[in-house]
Amino acid sequence: MGRIFSGIQPTGGVHVGNYVGAIQNWVRMQDEMESFFCIVDYHAMTVPYDPSDFRRRVREAAAINLAAGLDPAKTTLFVQSHVPEHAELAWILGCVTPLGELQRMTQFKDKARQHAENVNAGLLNYPILMAADILIYKADTVPVGEDQVQHLELAREIARRFNGTFGPTFPEPQPRLTAGARIMALTDPESKMSKSVPGSYVALTDPPDEIRRRLRRAVTDTGPTTGEMSPGVRNLFTLLEVFDAQGDTFRALRRAYDEGTLRYVELKDAVAEHMIEQLRPIRERYEELVAHPDRLRTILAEGADRARRVARTTMEEVYERTGLRSRA
Ligand code: TYM
Repeated sequence: MGRIFSGIQPTGGVHVGNYVGAIQNWVRMQDEMESFFCIVDYHAMTVPYDPSDFRRRVREAAAINLAAGLDPAKTTLFVQSHVPEHAELAWILGCVTPLGELQRMTQFKDKARQHAENVNAGLLNYPILMAADILIYKADTVPVGEDQVQHLELAREIARRFNGTFGPTFPEPQPRLTAGARIMALTDPESKMSKSVPGSYVALTDPPDEIRRRLRRAVTDTGPTTGEMSPGVRNLFTLLEVFDAQGDTFRALRRAYDEGTLRYVELKDAVAEHMIEQLRPIRERYEELVAHPDRLRTILAEGADRARRVARTTMEEVYERTGLRSRA
C-alpha cells in the first residue's frame, strides 16, 4: 500500500483554491491509503511573520482541515515543528541538492521579488525542506495544486541523487492533481488565487454575505472577446462545477453560455450560493473545533507521536547509509 503526504502553510485564510486544489483530494484519499498531513510552520517562517499570533494560526489551520473532513482516526495530522527530524533530514538532503536547481524555482523567484528586502536562505532552501517532509515518510503520492508540481520534480531529483549516492532509500514521489488544480484569483484571473493577494480569494470561513460580495466583484471579461471563454468566466465555471454537487445549475448555465444568453451576474450568484451551501457545514465544524482547543491539542499531539515514530525509523536508516552517528 502506498503512502500519501501533503502539507499546508499556516498563513491565515485557507481559501477555496487550497480546498479545491488540494484539501478535497486529501479528504478523499485518506480512505484509500495511509496518509500524513502536515501544518508546515517551518516553511511559513521563510517570509516575515508575527510570532505573537503564530501558534493561533497553526491551530486554526489544523482546525480548518479537520473541519473540511480530515479524520484523525484515519489520517495522521500534525505540525511540522513537532517532528524536528524534518529539519534534520533537510540538512542532509541539502548536501545532495544542486544550488542552480533551487535558484530556478518559480516560487523562489516570485517570493524573492515580493520580499526583496528579505531574500533569506530559508526561502531558497524551502523545496529541500519540502522534499524532506515527503521523503521522511517514504510517501509516493502527494496531492497538491499545480503550483507545487515544480517543487515535486525537484523532490524526485533529490531522492534520485540521495539514492544514487548512498544506496536505494527513498521512493520518487508523484503529484496527484484535481480538475481544480489551479484556481485563479477572483480579482485577476490571469494569476492564481493566493493568500498573499487580498480580495483574490474566498476563505473557507467567510460568512455568506462576504462570499456573495467577493463573487460579485469577480472579474469576468478582461479584454476584447475573441470567441473563446475568458479566463475569469472559465474560473467561475470551474468553481461552479466543483461546488454544485448535483451539477444541474452547472449544466444549465453552461448551456446558456453556449447559446449566448448567460448573464455573468447569474453565474456569479450561482457560484456564491453553491459555495455557501457547501462551506456552511465546514464553517460550523470549524467554529466548534476552535471553541475546544484541548481537543485540537490532543489530536495534534497524537498525530505528532505517530509521525515521529515513522520519521525516526527513516532517520535510523539515513544515519546508517550516510555514515552518521556512530560513536565508536
Ligand atoms: P500552500 O500552503 O501554499 O497551499 C496548500 C495547497 O493548496 C494548493 N493551492 C492551490 N490549488 C489550486 N488553486 C490555487 N489557487 C491554489 N493555491 C494553493 C497548493 O498547491 C497546495 O497543495 N509548499 C506547500 C506546502 C508544503 C507541502 C509539503 C506540500 C510543504 N511541504 C510537502 C506537499 C508536500 C505550500 O506552500 O502550500
